[in-house]
Amino acid sequence: MKTPVDIAVTGAAGQISYSLLFRLAAGDLLGPDQPIVLRLLEITPALEVLKGVVMELNDCAFPLLNKVIITDDAKVAFDNVDYAFLVGARPRKEGMLRSDLLSQNAEIFRVQGKALNDVASRKVKALVTGNPANTNAFLAINNAPDLAPECFAAMAMLDHTRAISMLAQKCGVLTRDVKNISVWGNHSCMQYPDLHHAWVKGQKALSLVEQEWFVNEFIPTLQHRGTQVIKARGQSSAASAANAAIKHMFTWINGTEEGDWVSMAVPSDGSYGIESGLVFSFPVTVTDGVYNIVKGLDINEFSLERLRQNEAELIEERQAVRHLL
Ligand code: NAI
Repeated sequence: MKTPVDIAVTGAAGQISYSLLFRLAAGDLLGPDQPIVLRLLEITPALEVLKGVVMELNDCAFPLLNKVIITDDAKVAFDNVDYAFLVGARPRKEGMLRSDLLSQNAEIFRVQGKALNDVASRKVKALVTGNPANTNAFLAINNAPDLAPECFAAMAMLDHTRAISMLAQKCGVLTRDVKNISVWGNHSCMQYPDLHHAWVKGQKALSLVEQEWFVNEFIPTLQHRGTQVIKARGQSSAASAANAAIKHMFTWINGTEEGDWVSMAVPSDGSYGIESGLVFSFPVTVTDGVYNIVKGLDINEFSLERLRQNEAELIEERQAVRHLL
């Protein structure tokens, strides 16, 4: 048997983790031959609930799950980890200003960025799912000066898989027939799901759907999909978010498929005129465990305007947390 790999998950008693942890333990990320240790972080008041989740994990008798560690100390959770799922965040309460939500979550990611900096493996892959994900990742990167910014990414994969699914349904094809979908920008209602470079069974997506549908249905439906799920389910997306987190990390480890790409929110290198350092969702390919922003795509005026709006929103979010940088 191989040496176990340590995986940290924060917000481990929350809804997304209730799906994520069981899939990790079943081998969905690292495969059927790789034993794992789960290092689960929660705030102190949630540790009791987390103990119940751990009872259930143990009750599954997963052959790959060597050990589960629970803690309220980020340095214990991140000790020497190669993979960190940063899911835990404070939810927005009624009457709470967006700037307060930003500040409170920024504080969490400031602390966790420092802890990763101090104790994680130097090649850690840290995926921020907790919202506002892009700015939280920006905070973590800026508080982890000894780690390469490329150790971090924020999750746009749920937006990406939602876009694939919606286009596949519209065209009456399977999701695997859809390639080169791009979701640009912030994981917010501003995000820009883009079909200009997408293909369906070898045909240009925009030659198969009406422009009117793309602009007035596809884009707004995806921008507000999260709200629609809350309305229907009474709770925010959880199993689909966990699936996206695994797909993001799996792709980051194993690479993108030949001829295709995925959307990941990563530190901008100035591509497409987006300010360097902002954590912005781009189409990326992954080779040898390293993501690379897809360069040189033609961006028309319509798309450029949406990229600019997302950049402006992220600059505004950064402004709200500047005291923690
Ligand atoms: P949840 O509220 O069920 O769970 C969050 C957990 O985080 C709670 O158990 C809480 O105690 C914990 N937590 C809070 N502060 C913490 C800290 N400092 N350290 C460790 N744990 C802490 O929320 P859920 O549904 O699991 O969602 C988690 C986050 O993911 C939310 O911010 C949500 O908005 C976001 N999300 C992001 C998506 C994306 O596509 N990027 C999609 C869906 C959700």
